[in-house]
Amino acid sequence: MKIPLSAPDITEAEIAAVTRVLRTPHLSLGPELTAFEQEFAAYHRVPHAVAVSSGTAGLHLALLTLGIGPGHEVILPAFTFVAVANAVLQVGAKPVLADIDATTLNLDPASVEEKITPRTRAIIAVHTFGIPADIDALLDIARRDNLFLIEDACEAIGAEWNSPVHSGRAGSFGHLAVFGFYPNKQITTGEGGMVLAHDPVHADRLRSLRNQGRLPGAGWLDHSEPGYNYRLSELACALGRVQLTRLHEILPLRASAAQCYNNLLAGVDDLILPPLAVSHRTLSWFVYVVQIPNSIARQTNGRARIRQALEEQGIATGLYFPPLHRQPALGASVGGSGFHLPVTESVSSRTLALPFFTRITTETQSFVAQALLAALQTK
Ligand SMILES: Cc1ncc(COP(=O)(O)O)c(C=O)c1O
Repeated sequence: MKIPLSAPDITEAEIAAVTRVLRTPHLSLGPELTAFEQEFAAYHRVPHAVAVSSGTAGLHLALLTLGIGPGHEVILPAFTFVAVANAVLQVGAKPVLADIDATTLNLDPASVEEKITPRTRAIIAVHTFGIPADIDALLDIARRDNLFLIEDACEAIGAEWNSPVHSGRAGSFGHLAVFGFYPNKQITTGEGGMVLAHDPVHADRLRSLRNQGRLPGAGWLDHSEPGYNYRLSELACALGRVQLTRLHEILPLRASAAQCYNNLLAGVDDLILPPLAVSHRTLSWFVYVVQIPNSIARQTNGRARIRQALEEQGIATGLYFPPLHRQPALGASVGGSGFHLPVTESVSSRTLALPFFTRITTETQSFVAQALLAALQTK
């Protein structure tokens, strides 16, 4: 028996919706796209949603739409997926890495402030693992320094920030917000993404850029600016629409699974479990990531040994995330080997993602937990 790290939750309703599209002549830029965008915008109480081919494409277009390019700096967390930094590089701007908060694993606002220079144009607030970043603090910084706030909600659909100052769903606060629907996400379209916008000018620009620079309403061979093919097919949109309607059942199942793991793994000295509740936030569980005890993480191959023990029992694990400044693809462009962010480096050296998906059973979770507990006890 193999236990995967993630698995999509597809029902007969999704299969029927995709099949229905296949019986129509509209496979791209049709009614499913319009409906998916409208429903997604309504769910977030944001006026505009623009579907794109991936979260990465969404980040790229968000930066272009805000006019970010060469000579500009964009602050983002060092503890995140590489696509965030790559999108900044793709528009010719410089990714500037900030450190994270040890509890939420999100941007530490104090570190963000330290990184601001006259060239800073934007902050990308990633809602890592489905825990919202500190929206109040980051919006304050962005307003004070006249910066754009882009939310990367790829891992956090349905999460909420509710403080006395601001409240709403993750993705509803920034100038633009990006979502991703890869199959490991809470909802999937196979591949896909969405960008939320408050400003209709931004929405039009996003629609143009994702469709070869054709402004909405323009002819097929009328291109007002260089653009891309970042469209999302009708099949994907139909799938996404059904998934979105099921989010209200998906998120509680994932929250229960997280609670179950926390119960099973409680009481091990220095094994850090993810928080089940964080002030001002409603979480949307993306992955389940523990931090192994320091005594093991510090051993040469200590974490590799734990992974190997689980692998031998058919249990997949992941290392979300190595620090971006230690990725060979990025190292020099974000600071090189002399660059340090202590919290990111400490957390990254200890993380271990366990199998986690909407329909994971209690039996599977018990099996995984027992295997992990046994591996942690082996010296
Ligand atoms: C925080 C974050 N940003 C961006 C992306 C990129 O999304 P995609 O894989 O859809 O391009 C991901 C995907 O895993 C992500 O976790």
